[in-house]
Amino acid sequence: MERTRMKIYITRRLPEEVIARLQEVFECKWWDREDIPVPRDVLFNEIQEADGILSMVTDSIDSELLDAAPRLRVVSNMAVGFDNIQLEEAKKRNVIVCNTPDVLTETTADLTFALLLATSRRLVESATFLKNDEWQSWSPFLLAGLDVHHKTMGIIGLGRIGQAVARRAAGFGMKLLYFNRNRRLADEQSLGVEYKDLATLLQESDFVCVLTPLKEDTYHLIGEQELSLMKSTAVLINTSRGPVVDEEALYEALKKKLIWGAGLDVFDNEPVRASHPLIHLPNVVAIPHIGSATVETRVAMANLAVDNLMLALTGKAPKYRVC
Ligand code: DGY
Repeated sequence: MERTRMKIYITRRLPEEVIARLQEVFECKWWDREDIPVPRDVLFNEIQEADGILSMVTDSIDSELLDAAPRLRVVSNMAVGFDNIQLEEAKKRNVIVCNTPDVLTETTADLTFALLLATSRRLVESATFLKNDEWQSWSPFLLAGLDVHHKTMGIIGLGRIGQAVARRAAGFGMKLLYFNRNRRLADEQSLGVEYKDLATLLQESDFVCVLTPLKEDTYHLIGEQELSLMKSTAVLINTSRGPVVDEEALYEALKKKLIWGAGLDVFDNEPVRASHPLIHLPNVVAIPHIGSATVETRVAMANLAVDNLMLALTGKAPKYRVC
């Protein structure tokens, strides 16, 4: 029997009003849990009938899955990152891939800066100290951290989020360096950022913010060699993707105090367990991949993923197409 409506599979429970927009046009099914990803076998089954899917960073969209999806025309990822999708495999099968940049830029930059401040001013340690009733007296160097203002920030990856972090750092009177695959001459002018090669940026920065997407050439971009170039008073912040930093090398560098501290929102294998050695180091502030996690921004991302899906499936240009 000929289908009257195209079918969509949504891999996580989203707000009703967001799903309702899709239901007006398509036949929709979804994984009705917000807290855990759709199991692979369920996704495998559902995708067989789907014309489009609205996916999350936790779904691995690979050749095996794409092979099981003969009707699939669009993968609309509710994230700016798309390292969970095998783009080449999607391209081979003429599957359009979309993402949700822009709407999360300022929110992720806020979180990056919050993590930087929390790490350098030891906020988590200080709050735990109080909760544990350890406070005996004000004392000159009690929980003394590092100044942020007027220091040097090195931004690795001057994309949208990198630029938004630079704007915040300028408000703190910081000197701004960046490293990027391509030089961004216009941004150098407008943001007051100075281009450095990676080694020089690492040597000169007090705060290194990793904001580059995960790609083949950024995997373990920051490893033992790179960490050894950093100042012993430097702080590394990673709000991009875990595998851009070699976790084992980072652990060693932090343990041996080759660098001062790290603020980590992302990890090699997520979710990290409490047994992960990095998160127990006193000079680490670790949080669970919440860069863009505000209610407003997550709703905006979900709506943008819906827009992309609807446009692409109705033969129009999606707002953000990756391939
Ligand atoms: C993204 O958008 O890529 C984030 O990491 C998930 O919100």
